[in-house]
Amino acid sequence: MPGMRGSVGPGTMFTRRHNRGYYLHPDRPLLFSRPPVPVVIHVQGSIFVAHATLIDGKARAAELSASITESAAELFETHGVRPGLAVVSVGDDPASKIYTRNKKRTAETCGFYSVQHALAADSSQETVLALLTELNADPAIHGILVQLPLPDHLDEQLITQSVAPEKDVDGFHFQNIGKLTAGQTEDAFVPCTPAGCMLMIEDQLGKDFSGLNAVIIGRSNIVGKPMASLLLKANATVTITHSRTSDLPGVCRNADILVAAVGRPNMVKGEWIKPGAIVIDVGINRIQVSEGGETKTKLTGDVDFDEVSKVAGAITPVPGGVGPMTIAMLMANTLASARRVANISELTGESSEDRERRKFSDDLAQT
Ligand code: GUN
Repeated sequence: MPGMRGSVGPGTMFTRRHNRGYYLHPDRPLLFSRPPVPVVIHVQGSIFVAHATLIDGKARAAELSASITESAAELFETHGVRPGLAVVSVGDDPASKIYTRNKKRTAETCGFYSVQHALAADSSQETVLALLTELNADPAIHGILVQLPLPDHLDEQLITQSVAPEKDVDGFHFQNIGKLTAGQTEDAFVPCTPAGCMLMIEDQLGKDFSGLNAVIIGRSNIVGKPMASLLLKANATVTITHSRTSDLPGVCRNADILVAAVGRPNMVKGEWIKPGAIVIDVGINRIQVSEGGETKTKLTGDVDFDEVSKVAGAITPVPGGVGPMTIAMLMANTLASARRVANISELTGESSEDRERRKFSDDLAQT
């Protein structure tokens, strides 16, 4: 059988084929030239007959992390700067513990200086703010992340706004939100989850979504709203839906790109999907399932994978889709921050003086 084989998690095998549907965009014969072909996919011990390309976030994140590791080593060799990431958590939320541990571990794998501050659940606001003041002033730290949610007694907004905007690798500071909303992404930190989603969509469609409808389910500050800004910048026609939206299935059926970030297990059904659509599942829900008489906890997305993968052109799995990409984008933001400190352009590796010189000669060439 033609196609590529890969792994999306322990014990998970899939067959990936570039069989993007031709329904989406008749003007794009290269991207959408073939009708979907059924593919057998094994996810977490279950078998699905799917039509969709499986978007392997785990493999893509590994590829990104490898390139970040290389760039970090080069930055250290050439400028003596080692990217530094501080991860702050407050309390004992089990999911947050896993996420922060993974973030610290990935930072170490990328060769970063990595510190984790796990504060007690009853830590005062003053304690958290004092730690942030210290980290803001620490030249070894280029990125600061405060894991959300915070315990109820803490003022989440005050705390996220107390991270220095130039170290705000989560992209939660109003200065970064403002830049993103204004479409000025060159020197803004973009929140990691939507940034990772965007890369996976671009892998499928290229960078210009002109003429395509994008629908986002969920209006959170972490995912829904920044995702809308990114899709809009790429020329998609964007709809943000939420709990008060009427006829949600009907709105979703219009989507060439559907991003589900709502936190409701398996909510998005096959009949909500436009054939050939790209479906990005941001949900990470823990549900109880009974297997062989035993009750087990299983991770599932907001999308009913079994149904939707038969209709979509491409889909992210849960786990192994958006999650690993979020962590990789955090590393990318931290590296970008360290490069800014070293006065190097993120994209090209040139210094700001060289960049200005090049811009000047480019401008001259245009006249
Ligand atoms: N909690 C869930 N997602 C995120 C995220 O992207 N950043 C932080 N800081 N906390 C989160």
